[in-house]
Amino acid sequence: MNRPRVALVTGASRGIGKGIADALAKANYLVAAGYNSSPILPIAEESSLDSIWPVKIDISSEDSVKQAIQSVENHIGRVDVLVNNAGFAQPKPFMEISDADWEAMLSVNLLGAVRCTRAVLPGMLENNYGRIVNISSIGGQWGGMYQVHYAAAKAGLINFTRSMAKLYSGQGVTSNAVSPGLIETEMIAQEMKDPSAPSRVQGIPVARLGTVPEVAAAVLYLCSDEAGYVTGQTINVNGGMYFG
Ligand SMILES: NC(=O)c1ccc[n+]([C@@H]2O[C@H](COP(=O)([O-])OP(=O)(O)OC[C@H]3O[C@@H](n4cnc5c(N)ncnc54)[C@H](OP(=O)(O)O)[C@@H]3O)[C@@H](O)[C@H]2O)c1
Repeated sequence: MNRPRVALVTGASRGIGKGIADALAKANYLVAAGYNSSPILPIAEESSLDSIWPVKIDISSEDSVKQAIQSVENHIGRVDVLVNNAGFAQPKPFMEISDADWEAMLSVNLLGAVRCTRAVLPGMLENNYGRIVNISSIGGQWGGMYQVHYAAAKAGLINFTRSMAKLYSGQGVTSNAVSPGLIETEMIAQEMKDPSAPSRVQGIPVARLGTVPEVAAAVLYLCSDEAGYVTGQTINVNGGMYFG
């Protein structure tokens, strides 16, 4: 392999995705950093790395995904590594989650990864090389009381990861999931304002929230050439909240 690997990270405008994009760039990948509604300028300004290339991608839209991937291929090269990170949370009591909520949730947090995978897979198969890493959630493993639809989408993502592993690992394309517990980002900021939050955090075996670099390190490993014999797995980065 003469050229650096090309990685696409969705939802890289902030939080975990931004951390993953930074970690990959530092490890000499050429990184397409996906953003949607948030302006991408901060990532380009903050990062001294010129190997991060911002790309507009709304994973809820097939057209946006296709356009973005075409643009990445034209500007940087064929995608070797896909990190399906983009997602959103929507805490709501079960009985208040409407069909429209369910559809929007599944369209982004499950189908978004499917759309991106479909778009990059032909190139990966032609190269006989690919790394797909899906960012799931502990909610997808043990169920979720506060956002049942989010938990179901994330469980689906773990199953999708395994199906991709069964279908394509033999052609050099591995597929794995990383399942974070509670990680310090904007996504959980509201949840952490709840009076019960400190005791919940103390109840985590590691007794603190996880950090973005801790999640990024697991993703970086799964993206590496050295992880070629790891596929269909879910790596838990959850401080011991769940051992399964
Ligand atoms: N933080 C946690 O404790 C935790 C725990 C378990 C799993 N996770 C998962 O980790 C991933 C990252 O979470 P985070 O904590 O970093 O969240 P975050 O800070 O809220 O960031 C979410 C990212 O997803 C992007 N996004 C949302 N909808 C999108 C769409 N339709 N198309 C493209 N991008 C979209 C956002 O982009 P824009 O702002 O540009 O719209 C943003 O960059 C998510 O999949 C989340 O479910 C997080």
